[in-house]
Amino acid sequence: MIKLIIQALKRFAWFKRFNAKITYELLAKNIPAEDWHFMNYGYTPNSFEPKLEVPSDPKIQKYSLQMYHYLASKANLEGKQVLEIGSGRGGGAKHVASHFKPASYIGLDIASSAVDLANKIHHVPGLKFIQGSAESIPLVDNSIDVILNVESCHGYGCVDTFLKEVKRVLKPGGYLLMVDFRNSPENMKILEGQIQNSGLIQVSKEDITTNVVQSIEAEDESKKARIKKLIPARWQKLFNEFAGVVGSRFYETLKNGTRPYYRFVLEKR
Ligand SMILES: C[S@@+](CC[C@H](N)C(=O)[O-])C[C@H]1O[C@@H](n2cnc3c(N)ncnc32)[C@H](O)[C@@H]1O
Repeated sequence: MIKLIIQALKRFAWFKRFNAKITYELLAKNIPAEDWHFMNYGYTPNSFEPKLEVPSDPKIQKYSLQMYHYLASKANLEGKQVLEIGSGRGGGAKHVASHFKPASYIGLDIASSAVDLANKIHHVPGLKFIQGSAESIPLVDNSIDVILNVESCHGYGCVDTFLKEVKRVLKPGGYLLMVDFRNSPENMKILEGQIQNSGLIQVSKEDITTNVVQSIEAEDESKKARIKKLIPARWQKLFNEFAGVVGSRFYETLKNGTRPYYRFVLEKR
């Protein structure tokens, strides 16, 4: 019953904003674990992509880190002004800021407790985290070369407003690198329509659903162990669904193709 009510409320922009803020505020506040850096479902690269050496330490969320690495490789970041929208606990920002050597990297997130946690645990020259909304980016026009957006825009009140803001703050020739899922092929079509209407030019689009499914499967054991360690027993069932473990509805719908997951590269010309 509660699930049905939440599904119905998710049609309203105000509820989506409220839901995203409360969820991620509470998560960072109540589980400030300093070795939990990522909140995306991860990416297993294709065999033709260059191999990234990641130490096989279960404390490092290798597949989530790979999601950032392979997304960030879609544009040249060296010496550039980079903004990430929806930076969460900041692990992706830390990796990209250290590995790809941008001049500056701002991680923006709606949840101030996630911003505080990220500022506390990640220290890389030129990297900082600030609180703010994807729908009202607190930066001036034409100031950013590349924007990253990882599994975040499904929770925004209005994706059209987000894309308008992206277009405003990007310099001409700048890129939006974005990965996200939608809970049906029809809703992915809606996102594609929103992109088309945004005035940003689609440079490439890839269906990476299989790569995400493979990552969920490869990481399942360590993810379940992390949940057992960090989440109070009474919340573990709910959290397994949220975390998309093998057997969850999230995982099953990705695997059977009814929840597509795409990667987009968009340019402001
Ligand atoms: C699934 S988490 C992904 C976090 C991070 N990108 C990662 O991969 O680890 C989604 C993030 O988007 C943030 N978010 C949701 N709505 C937002 C908004 N309107 N503006 C900025 N951030 C938002 C949430 O607070 C959360 O940190």
